[in-house]
Amino acid sequence: MTAVVPLPFTALRGVEHIASLSFESRWERTAFASFLTASAARNRAVFSASGELEGYLLTLFAGGNLDIVSIAVLPERRRQGVAEALLEDLRCSPDVLSSTLEVRADNEPSRRFYEKLGYALVGTRRRYYDGKNDAAVMRWDRR
Ligand SMILES: CC(C)(COP(=O)(O)OP(=O)(O)OC[C@H]1O[C@@H](n2cnc3c(N)ncnc32)[C@H](O)[C@@H]1OP(=O)(O)O)[C@@H](O)C(=O)NCCC(=O)NCCS
Repeated sequence: MTAVVPLPFTALRGVEHIASLSFESRWERTAFASFLTASAARNRAVFSASGELEGYLLTLFAGGNLDIVSIAVLPERRRQGVAEALLEDLRCSPDVLSSTLEVRADNEPSRRFYEKLGYALVGTRRRYYDGKNDAAVMRWDRR
């Protein structure tokens, strides 16, 4: 079973490392730091037995909605249920009534991932990323 824990601030460099392997555009360290410390943040992590960060999930929770800010898993740990465990750990909380996110419209693996977890496409934001790439807006509602 994949053990999911709250993401500690000490994992900041690990988050930056996984993000650098996962996304074309880079965030400043201060951007990650602000999401790790935000009062509305609900963040989760999976570590290896040796203490290496293997996956992270950054979210903001407000008004019953869990907004996914960023999720990524080390390439060599993908397709082993890490991301699903991260997200389910937060969604199982009874105060989470819905969840929203934007994902690059051409990011098929991620869209398949969210669809498996019950998210549906609810809109598109044109040229949302770097003024070039469209975002698919997806949403899940507790029934
Ligand atoms: C998207 C991402 C977080 C998924 O992480 P993961 O730990 O590999 O996902 P899981 O193993 O929990 O996958 C759960 C399900 O999602 C779907 N899925 C995940 N990756 C997939 C892929 N590459 N292709 C198709 N479906 C995929 C599958 O249904 C999978 O279940 P299965 O393996 O039983 O078929 C990972 O691919 C990643 O880090 N990508 C780069 C960063 C990124 O794009 N983040 C999302 C931005 S919003």
